[in-house]
Parts: sequence; structure tokens; C-alpha cells
Amino acid sequence: MLNLSIFNHHLRLMKQLFFFALLATACMDDPVSVTSSAPQDDNGWYGELPEGFPEPVVAIENKMTPEKIELGRHLFYDQRLSVNQSQSCSSCHRQEYAFADGLEQSIGSTGESTPRNSMALVNVAYNRFYTWANSSLTHLEAQIVIPLFGESPIELGLAGQETQTLNELLADERYQQLFSLAYPEIDNPSFKEIVEALGAFCRSLISGDSDFDRYLYQQERSLDDSAIRGLNLFFSEKLECHHCHGGFNFSNASLGHGTSLGSTASVSPFHNTGLYNIDNQGTYPIHSQGLFSVTGDPKDMGRFRAPTLRNIALTAPYMHDGSMQSLEEVIRFYEAGGREIKEGPYRGDGRKHPLKSSLISGFTLTDQERNDLIHFLESLSDESFVTNPAFSNPW
Ligand code: HEC
Ligand code: HEC
Repeated sequence: MLNLSIFNHHLRLMKQLFFFALLATACMDDPVSVTSSAPQDDNGWYGELPEGFPEPVVAIENKMTPEKIELGRHLFYDQRLSVNQSQSCSSCHRQEYAFADGLEQSIGSTGESTPRNSMALVNVAYNRFYTWANSSLTHLEAQIVIPLFGESPIELGLAGQETQTLNELLADERYQQLFSLAYPEIDNPSFKEIVEALGAFCRSLISGDSDFDRYLYQQERSLDDSAIRGLNLFFSEKLECHHCHGGFNFSNASLGHGTSLGSTASVSPFHNTGLYNIDNQGTYPIHSQGLFSVTGDPKDMGRFRAPTLRNIALTAPYMHDGSMQSLEEVIRFYEAGGREIKEGPYRGDGRKHPLKSSLISGFTLTDQERNDLIHFLESLSDESFVTNPAFSNPW
């Protein structure tokens, strides 16, 4: 039942969730609202946005158009874009898993495994940083080059094979048409246009139509009592989840047009959550050391980006290395205030990691409360996102 206390709670939640967005919209000429048609604007964004979502910041040199998005969708699902025609982006980013792949680590075209878990591609248009832990990777296009051409590990493995792949694609009449629609002014498309089109498609993967969103915006009774109790726990100071997984995208690493960084800037989006503490010496597994691998700063050991929790029930296994199998396991980890590993090469007590965030201090939940929290996290799944034909394989 929607009673007054829920309504009040509702207002409180709105405030918590959209504090930064609201602050910013107040100073904007043209506040973001739901759009019935998909507008193109000077900021380079094209597409509809769910209620409560600010407009994404689009790299201005890669303005989105429906034709570019459609070209990008074809490329995203095309196995000709790998060294041995065995894989496409979609091999590791599958729509039914919100564009994650269900594996602990992914396997590239030639059988090499990636050091980290494939990320769900959910609202990546808003990312301040790309991948699990790279403070220098701030452009989507720069990230997309990595699976295409990267050699450690080999993912799609196209390094050295650019011309051959390009010729093959351009020999296909369907691509001739798609390229000329997306780039009417360019006679000889190159990988620059391929990367841009993939970027436009990835940005179009917007998800904001979950039971939670319908509860918040459409006043639908789409959350049951258990999920509402879970929501209250999630936003409580006892659990602290929202400090790192807050805002419209449930991640403090997300940013839109006009959303001021506010205090999210002072709270870095990279955190050590106490997953590892090998031999109680403060280290993480060698391929899994987080921001430290990029900056070399000892203070960055084990610091990873807090990912969005939208569609989280669809993207198991969890954490940067896929080392947790279920949401229950993740919640028990936060209850314990970190992870103690008792045996094997990674033995050590992550709960006592000297760099662990002060927000991860542990708490106790009853079985009922733990289930409520899981139900809330499940309410962030967006069925229309994982079934939307506009995001599916066009071939
Ligand atoms: C072999 C598996 C594999 C393939 C193929 C692959 N990816 Fe990924 N992708 C990953 C993994 C693993 C990560 C996480 C990388 C990390 O943190 O080191 C990732 C991360 C990403 C991200 C960052 C998401 C975020 O929230 O920061 C984007 C965007 C992305 N991939 C897009 C693509 C595109 C586009 C393609 C095709 C050109 C592609 N990927 C091909 C495995 C793959
Ligand atoms: C200090 C910031 C912080 C707090 C507080 C926090 N998280 Fe996280 N969360 C993270 C980071 C960082 C990761 C990724 C860690 C990694 O992979 O090493 C993460 C990962 C997760 C994941 C797995 C995401 C994925 O895609 O695999 C879930 C689920 C999650 N958190 C839920 C919660 C819940 C529920 C709470 C509250 C009980 C919470 N988090 C509190 C920072 C935080």
C-alpha cells in the first residue's frame, strides 16, 4: 500500500538520489525531461532518456546520430571484427546479461583470458572513467580501441590486420550502405569511423526502466514491501552503500551534463573494499591490483571503481575478478567488512587491509534483512533493456 510514510520516504529518497542532479538542473536553461521523440542536440547526444537521467556528456568530435548507432550495432555483433572470425564485442558483452558475459574472466579470440571480469555495458555514456580501475581512461573511444587491438591479452586481436579487416567489411554491400548513411562525407572509411560508431552504439545502451524506476517515477506499486525495506537499508547510514553506489546511476563514478560533481568529487570513485590482503602484507593478486597498476602509487593498491548496480542481478559473477558468485555472497562480504581468505595463495585478512575504505566497516543483518536487500537489488533489473530489439543482433 502506498501510505503517507512511504510517500515521505519517497521524497527523502528523491532528495538523496538526485541531490546533485537537482542542484545542477536548477541552474540550467533547459532541464532534462522525458522526451517523446529522440532529439539530436548541440551537445552531441541523440536518444531518449529515462526520467531522472541527466544528459550524457558526449565527446563532441563523435556526435551521435541514429545512422552511426545502427552502423555501430552491426559492428558490435560482427565476428569479422576478430583475428580469426571467432568473436565480436558481443561475445563478452551479451545482451541477456546486461552486456556482461557470465564468466569470472573472459576468453579472447585466441584463447587468452582477460585478467578481469567483463563489465556490463549499462549507461556507460555517463562514466567518468572506463574499466574497473583506470583513472586515465576517461574517453569511451579510447577504451574501445583496447579490445580491438590490445595484445596483452589478445581480445579481438586485430593489431596488424587493419587493412585486411577493413577491406573485408567494405566489400559487404550492407556495410557500404551503412557507412554511407552514417558518414555521407567520407569516401574511404577507416577504423576511426568504426571506433566512433561502436562508441555511439555503446552510448545508446541506456537503462532506466526497472521496477525501482517505475516505483519512484510512475508511482506504480512495482516494489513489494520486502524490496522497499531493502531500499531503506541500502540508503541507510548503517549500510553506507549509497555513498559509493549513489545517484541516478547507482555509481559515484557516473556524471552527466549539468550534474555538478559536488561532493562526489571529494569522494574518489576508486575504493579499496578489503577483498584481499595477501599474507596480511597489504597486497592484491598480481593481475588484480586496481588503480595501483596505473598510478604506481602505493596508496592505490586494491582501489577499484564502484560500478553501477543497475541490472546487477543479471551480471554475476561479481567483483573485478568475478570472485563472488551471488548477491548473497557480496552482501555477506560487506557485513563482514571485507573478506578473509583462509587458504591458498591469496591467504590473508582483507578486513584488516590498511587501505580499506572507512565506509566498509561491517554491520549485522537478520536473514530477513539480507533477503530484503537482495530483493531491492533485483528490482534494479530492467527487462526492457535486455530485450530491446534496438540493442540486439541485427545479423
Ligand atoms: C574477450 C572479451 C571482450 C571482448 C571481445 C570485448 N570486451 Fe569489452 N570488456 C571486457 C572486459 C574484461 C572488460 C573490463 C576491462 C578491465 O577492467 O580491464 C571490458 C570493458 C569494456 C568497457 C568499459 C565499460 C565500463 O563501464 O567502463 C567497454 C565500453 C567495452 N568493454 C566495450 C567493448 C566493445 C565496444 C567491444 C568490441 C570492440 C568489446 N568491449 C570487446 C571484455 C571484452
Ligand atoms: C567504499 C565504497 C563502497 C561501499 C560503501 C559499497 N560498495 Fe559495493 N562496490 C564498491 C567497489 C569499489 C566495488 C568493486 C570492487 C572490486 O571489484 O574490487 C563494489 C562492488 C559491488 C558489487 C559488485 C558489482 C559488480 O558488478 O560485480 C555489488 C553488488 C555491490 N558492490 C553492492 C554494494 C552494497 C549492497 C553495498 C552496501 C552494503 C555496497 N556495495 C557498499 C564500492 C563500495
